[in-house]
Amino acid sequence: MTSPAVRLTVCRDCCCGNARKHPDVDHDAQLARLREIAAATGAAVTVSECLDVCDHANVVVVHRKGDKPVWFGFVRGDGVLDDLHKWIKDGGPVPDTLELHRIPPPGRP
Ligand code: FES
Repeated sequence: MTSPAVRLTVCRDCCCGNARKHPDVDHDAQLARLREIAAATGAAVTVSECLDVCDHANVVVVHRKGDKPVWFGFVRGDGVLDDLHKWIKDGGPVPDTLELHRIPPPGRP
């Protein structure tokens, strides 16, 4: 069995996915959409516990095989999901629209 070329780690814990903290987001629909994106692109989705960057909720980490994981924060609207889908499908460098959501991993400035 081969591992997927792309893995999406979707944080869902105390802040990410929390309707009390972010009531303007349909978190279940967002996770469903990320699973659809993964299914359409051959990626895998892992739902994780807190990734220790709660100020940036919702957080999604994209790990493309052979690349360092890329961390994205403030993943709350449909637009960023559209951009993630396109980037995962097309590959290449992180587009400017997604750079706006890029955050450092915990412990890095
Ligand atoms: S709950 Fe997502 S970073 Fe803490």
